[in-house]
Amino acid sequence: MILVVIDDDPANIKFVRFILANEGLDIHAASDPQSGMELICKTRPQIVLLDLVMPGVQGMEVLQKILEFDPGIDVILMTGYYSTESAVEAIQKGAADYFPKPFSPDKLRERIGQIKEDSKHRQRSLKLENELLENFEFDGMIGRSPLMLELISQIRRIAPHFRSVLVTGPTGVGKELVAKALHRLSPGQKGNFVALNCSSISETLAESELFGHVKGAFTGAHQDKVGVFEYADGGTALLDEIGEMPLLLQAKLLRVLQNQELQRVGSPVIRKVNVRVVAATNKDLPEMVRQGKFREDLYFRLCMIELKVPSLAERREDLPMLQRYFLKTFAAQYKKPLAGLTRRAQTLLARYSWPGNVRELENVIGHACMMTESDVIDIRELPDRIQNLRPTEDAESEVEMSLDRLARLHAHRVLAHVSGNKVRAAEILGISRTYLYELLKKNTPDQDQQDSDTKQDESKLVAPKAPRGG
Ligand SMILES: Nc1ncnc2c1ncn2[C@@H]1O[C@H](COP(=O)(O)OP(=O)(O)OP(=O)(O)O)[C@@H](O)[C@H]1O
Ligand SMILES: [Mg+2]
Repeated sequence: MILVVIDDDPANIKFVRFILANEGLDIHAASDPQSGMELICKTRPQIVLLDLVMPGVQGMEVLQKILEFDPGIDVILMTGYYSTESAVEAIQKGAADYFPKPFSPDKLRERIGQIKEDSKHRQRSLKLENELLENFEFDGMIGRSPLMLELISQIRRIAPHFRSVLVTGPTGVGKELVAKALHRLSPGQKGNFVALNCSSISETLAESELFGHVKGAFTGAHQDKVGVFEYADGGTALLDEIGEMPLLLQAKLLRVLQNQELQRVGSPVIRKVNVRVVAATNKDLPEMVRQGKFREDLYFRLCMIELKVPSLAERREDLPMLQRYFLKTFAAQYKKPLAGLTRRAQTLLARYSWPGNVRELENVIGHACMMTESDVIDIRELPDRIQNLRPTEDAESEVEMSLDRLARLHAHRVLAHVSGNKVRAAEILGISRTYLYELLKKNTPDQDQQDSDTKQDESKLVAPKAPRGG
């Protein structure tokens, strides 16, 4: 592991070299920020020890420059002029730690040891995540949350047998992916998969789109045309946004579902088809039935089998895996060697509500991958609406906190800092694991408000950590 120390005092550099001599580190030193930056670019260190007050330079600016170059570097600041404000500012700007001089050699060694452990842990979890990614991809669908696993198991059970399925869920959750999986998993289904968006066609054309027409059926019908259902004969038709289907066509659709027969527009011939129908919607169909906008008989026919696709907010556990999946996809697409997202970027993504669901996440990661100039994605590559979730530091609010609440807040911060590793967190906090669980568990209704504050506060002190590849 490579460490760069930047300090204008040669005695200090010597001291650092001395106390870290047996830590298995490859140590490089620079006596001013300019040559320090050059050294960092050249050696790509994991750790930087930075003296905060050097003649003629603002240490915080140097810190920012280092993190702009590589947000994954753990920067430890050293200073002879300690103040709480500058410590908070440093940590908030992304420093890994802050050491007032003179510091004890043991403390520094201990902190470096932690960083080494964390980095090993990150690499392990990266490897694990990649393995999981392979195991938990189901026909292009990523997810291992209980809700997703349940959905996948339903798809498996339904696919061989269904004639029609209703797939419901908000926009961007993957309803079309579900339809395709249903199609691919149906044994012996050699026919086509055809998708028709019911909202994008006019009422007059819709009938011909679905059922086809014969030459001369209406003005402009110059030749016979096969409709969606005939084209999907022996296969699957996805009727997207089924709620937008005109009432008249709903009756004809019902006939296909019930009798497997249809007539092309303008033709008296009744044709037999063998089509399986997946109807998708993000509308409240029962409500539309009440308002007379959707046929009740068709609704009852469709809802006999309903697959509910959960929103992303309902399955936040899947976020990290989806992030990695999209990162991998876009890294390949843009031919960039992207290693991951910084921890503070992940924290923000985890806090966002994702109204546009997986599609929105896909777009956000895609855009970030395109924009980034380094090998990690940091907050600045995220859209404003997500960047704005970063609360402003408000150290005073802590002065008004009860000890109990501050303890919980601190426990959450430390836990976030060690990627949720409770054993490590308890070690750092110097408390038993049982007590840590107790601190994390406290969650009575009257603490709800406090809790939401706490969650906001958590983010303030999360240092950026980029998962490193390899
Ligand atoms: N579980 C998932 N794993 C990987 N990609 C997903 C997943 N769910 C959705 N996606 C991706 O998100 C995007 C949106 O999915 P899809 O078009 O299936 O959503 P939808 O529910 O049909 O949305 P809408 O209601 O707006 O039509 C697609 O690019 C899809 O590949
Ligand atoms: Mg769709």
